[in-house]
Amino acid sequence: MSKLKNGFVYDIVIVGGLGHVGLPLGIMFASQGLKVVLYDVNQKYARIVQSGKMPFIEYDAEPLLKKALACGNLSIQTSPEVVAQARIVIVAVGTPVDEYLNPKVKQFLNIFNEFKRFLVRKQLIVIRSTVYPHTCEQLSRVLGGRGWKIAYCPERIIQGYAIRELRELPQIVSGMNKEAENQAALLFGKIASKIIRVSIRKAELTKLFSNAWRYIQFAVTNQFYMISNSLNVDYQKVRKAMMDGYGRAATLPSAGFAAGPCLLKDTMQLAAFSNNNFLLGHSAMMINEGLPNFLVNKLREKYDLSKIKVGILGMAFKADIDDTRDSLSYKLGKILRFHGAKVHYSDEYAQDHTFVTKEKLLRLSDVVVIGVPHSAYRNLKIPRKKEIIDLWGVIKR
Ligand SMILES: NC(=O)c1ccc[n+]([C@@H]2O[C@H](COP(=O)([O-])OP(=O)(O)OC[C@H]3O[C@@H](n4cnc5c(N)ncnc54)[C@H](O)[C@@H]3O)[C@@H](O)[C@H]2O)c1
Repeated sequence: MSKLKNGFVYDIVIVGGLGHVGLPLGIMFASQGLKVVLYDVNQKYARIVQSGKMPFIEYDAEPLLKKALACGNLSIQTSPEVVAQARIVIVAVGTPVDEYLNPKVKQFLNIFNEFKRFLVRKQLIVIRSTVYPHTCEQLSRVLGGRGWKIAYCPERIIQGYAIRELRELPQIVSGMNKEAENQAALLFGKIASKIIRVSIRKAELTKLFSNAWRYIQFAVTNQFYMISNSLNVDYQKVRKAMMDGYGRAATLPSAGFAAGPCLLKDTMQLAAFSNNNFLLGHSAMMINEGLPNFLVNKLREKYDLSKIKVGILGMAFKADIDDTRDSLSYKLGKILRFHGAKVHYSDEYAQDHTFVTKEKLLRLSDVVVIGVPHSAYRNLKIPRKKEIIDLWGVIKR
């Protein structure tokens, strides 16, 4: 194994390197000529990525992955000793909340116990995962005191478009000390369009506020949708009228399921941090998570659900990707089934042996709900006799 001038084998090891955040980041650094090793416990993904394929949809990533593997800049390891061999350790593992919506900080910190014996103080440790405030200080404690170079550089990409956004988005950089901050700024300067330096606390809040802000925006539009709908007024037309030539309303998003592994989770991390006094965050959760119930209640006013078949088109949590984590389409399906409806699922990208094709779903269902606005649904011809619930307004009739 040849070593770099600094004595390490790799420039970067990414812990959680085969995940939605770790993998595109590793590919980008490798494409810039850095020697990157992806360390992950997911053996299945390791085999897929090793063969030059992406295990999930990330547009424009696969050609770069193939190149990086071929030139030897990117490799994969599934055992933690490799952490000792890189100058920079980037941590991009998941940071979930528990069933009571409390952050699982301990679970995140425990991951360091698996490889902390391989860490040395001259390495730079970069936290890329979205963390609960104060986690970086906690990490110093877990690692056994002062002198560690710890940086927090949160990821802000939108899933599916990481390759484009890693280049375009400004990168927030913070460090527990100046040396960590400077080294992290130098590192991300290789891929990001702009570096924004802030303190650790500001970086933690910047990330959590960004996701909570987005989540609250979705809640506002979803609440408007529910009010319009209760009055039998077409919300698409109200929204269009609001935005037409009126810049102050121009950023109002379309109504729709606000789901996925980040927005709700990060809003709840912020709520936990503010002593559960984040009323807007909690309200946003009630509204966004309540939208499937609202849709079912509206259907129940019209139908005996035990006598109809409902098809949900789109099971991913976001358009044009294959990730179903925390998708509200499943919650909708569950509530419908609870009330006796027969429910069919379909998706353009996510695979599941229980899913049917969109054509079959249209044939089988009395009511069709658009769960997520995949582009493939834009030109669908849906017979007039079928009822459509289309929060995004993708279906043209
Ligand atoms: N997905 C996004 O679009 C996105 C965007 C911004 C920020 N984030 C944040 O980034 C973090 C990671 O999210 P993600 O979506 O990439 O999660 P993910 O589940 O896709 O990836 C995490 C990876 O870590 C690996 N892993 C878990 N435990 C491990 C261990 N002990 N050792 C080594 N590898 C381990 C998993 O196998 C997985 O491949 C989270 O904090 C998330 O909130 C995600």
